[in-house]
Amino acid sequence: MTVTYHSIFRPGLFDGQTILVTGGGTGIGRAVAHELAALGAHVVLAARTLENLEQVAAEIHAAGGAASHFVCNIREEEQVAALFDFVLAERGALHGLVNNAGGQFVSPAEMISLKGWRAVVETNLTGTFLMCREAFNRHMSAHGGVIVNMLIEMWRGFPGMAHSAAARAGIENLTKTLAVEWARAGVRVNAVAPGLISSSGLERYPEAVRPMIEQNIRDIPMKRMGTEAEVSAAIVFLLSPAAAFISGESIKIDGAGSLWRKTWEVGEHNHAPAAYDGFSEDSVES
Ligand code: ADE
Repeated sequence: MTVTYHSIFRPGLFDGQTILVTGGGTGIGRAVAHELAALGAHVVLAARTLENLEQVAAEIHAAGGAASHFVCNIREEEQVAALFDFVLAERGALHGLVNNAGGQFVSPAEMISLKGWRAVVETNLTGTFLMCREAFNRHMSAHGGVIVNMLIEMWRGFPGMAHSAAARAGIENLTKTLAVEWARAGVRVNAVAPGLISSSGLERYPEAVRPMIEQNIRDIPMKRMGTEAEVSAAIVFLLSPAAAFISGESIKIDGAGSLWRKTWEVGEHNHAPAAYDGFSEDSVES
């Protein structure tokens, strides 16, 4: 299969740059990798599954781009260190890092086991932290660079994904802290927050969740899902010099969904705490 990427950005924008994309073997990460390679970057793909990495690297090579890959579980400190050994030995530099890897499963909060909670928080929050820290210590502290982190639409909580929403809120805050701490080294740190995106990540959710997805689409003011390319374009913008004065920021790509969408149906009930009526002289007649 030959993949042609119709980027909105200028050809050669990332010529001479090495950009590392975690979760680059599937979904949004794959799209970002393709777009960056089409714009001249050498893309290093990292993920847990070799097969996916080989596939995407082959697609990029077939399209005339440059890519290499390395198997890495971002939750594991030694594997993250080995990934940076590989990148710096192979490329000698790292200009950009896209912390796209992550994941979660749908569950009511009360049914999330400690193991499940830890897995989601470690992958999303701890994995992103380890990647950022290693990128800074191993290269960007001395040479500058750009980091883009991945959020979800967690601005009003995310019923059904308490673990991931808590972890991503942590990433949003981490993004702000790092933007300030690392500005001195010429490192920018930003994030993107996709809403409902038509992507392979979505297909992995169980059949039972499908009606929820249909309802979510109806609640999005733009009445559709977003595309992988729409997320990729925001990431590419943040990596580009057009965003040279932007750091610590999060860009929502959600069709205004976070401003409007109902994320959770609260059925009729009469279990609200009794109203507190401590002021007998209040201005409302009882
Ligand atoms: N994609 C999803 N989870 C991941 C992990 N722990 N490491 C690397 N890529 C991932």
